[in-house]
Amino acid sequence: MPQSSQSIPSSMTAVLQSDYGDIDVYRTGAVAVPVPGPGQVLVRVRATSLHADIWHAMRGEPRILRLMGGGFVRPNQPIPGTDLAGEVAATGPDVDVFRLGDRVFGQALGWNLWRNGGTCAEYAAVDAVRLERIPQGIGFPEAAATATSGQIVLQNLPLEPVVDGCRVLVHGAAGCVGSLAVQIAKARGAVVTAVDLPPKLDSLRAIGADQVIDGSNVDPTEGSVRYDVVFDVLGIHPLGRWRRVLEPTGHYILIGHDQYGSCRRTVLGSIPKMLSLALQAPFVSQKVLVSPPKLAEPPLKMLARWLESGAVAPQIDSVLALDQLPQAMRRLERNEVNGRIVFAP
Ligand SMILES: NC(=O)c1ccc[n+]([C@@H]2O[C@H](COP(=O)([O-])OP(=O)(O)OC[C@H]3O[C@@H](n4cnc5c(N)ncnc54)[C@H](OP(=O)(O)O)[C@@H]3O)[C@@H](O)[C@H]2O)c1
Repeated sequence: MPQSSQSIPSSMTAVLQSDYGDIDVYRTGAVAVPVPGPGQVLVRVRATSLHADIWHAMRGEPRILRLMGGGFVRPNQPIPGTDLAGEVAATGPDVDVFRLGDRVFGQALGWNLWRNGGTCAEYAAVDAVRLERIPQGIGFPEAAATATSGQIVLQNLPLEPVVDGCRVLVHGAAGCVGSLAVQIAKARGAVVTAVDLPPKLDSLRAIGADQVIDGSNVDPTEGSVRYDVVFDVLGIHPLGRWRRVLEPTGHYILIGHDQYGSCRRTVLGSIPKMLSLALQAPFVSQKVLVSPPKLAEPPLKMLARWLESGAVAPQIDSVLALDQLPQAMRRLERNEVNGRIVFAP
């Protein structure tokens, strides 16, 4: 039976993206509150976060994203944002797992995040299967900041080899994805080496990294230590170099970071890099991961458990109003953000 709270208005405030381009494509305006369809939940959004893929959807780059559901000339979905935390305000037909008022977090989109997901708004209609209850004691900003980055980690990092005492290296470890990879590997008992830039090395020790490397000074693909897993957020070194520090049966995982345009991969982004890895994979002894690992339970459930136990605690840079998104995006582009920027609609 569809259910809804009495107090849902007919219109809401949202960030609206009219075109692809610079931060002036955004304005804040009023639009109709979405109606949850079958299997969907209407969430009163209390927090949503800013991350690299929202930048891609703003620019419409790499251009291939326009053919991957983003919208050819302008965004198909005008409201940016992929992750959210909030309260269930209504449920559509066929939803019986959530009740009105439940505190939930999750992601509005599935595998392809190079498009707008509609969460930078007061309300968002999201498939119930993409949501999970927020554990007691965890705030909306922390939950929203974990949903997308945490799922990216779990959709790429195979957990079976990450066991007590195994050696994991995370490259780009202080970023939103990397810092959760460090914490998840630590929660599994791994010995973690974290590589990032000097201002962030102390924060990496604070989240449990056993060893930190200044990537501006030291080449992490050289040295005598051999790793069981390399989790490479940045993708600036080729596989051949990483193999020098990987165990013969180790795992290499590439996330890939286009560095807000400075890599100039404006047409295909990291896709050629991924294809090249897939072609090399059969010819190397290490496992080069090009397909998602199988998980014993849904990633959001795991993340909720780790949030509750304190094993995962995302760093929040700031909590801002929705209309501050353009300025926040500028800070993200300039690498001035320390942790996650969260919006509270
Ligand atoms: N975060 C998400 O939720 C999310 C969502 C969708 C997709 N992704 C994918 O994941 C990728 C990474 O996202 P992210 O949010 O984790 O990025 P991020 O926050 O920018 O993290 C990258 C980290 O690497 C550091 N770094 C830069 N150059 C380095 C070097 N030479 N050696 C060592 N460290 C270096 C950066 O430092 P500086 O900041 O000082 O440069 C930063 O701390 C994105 O490009 C995107 O494709 C992420």
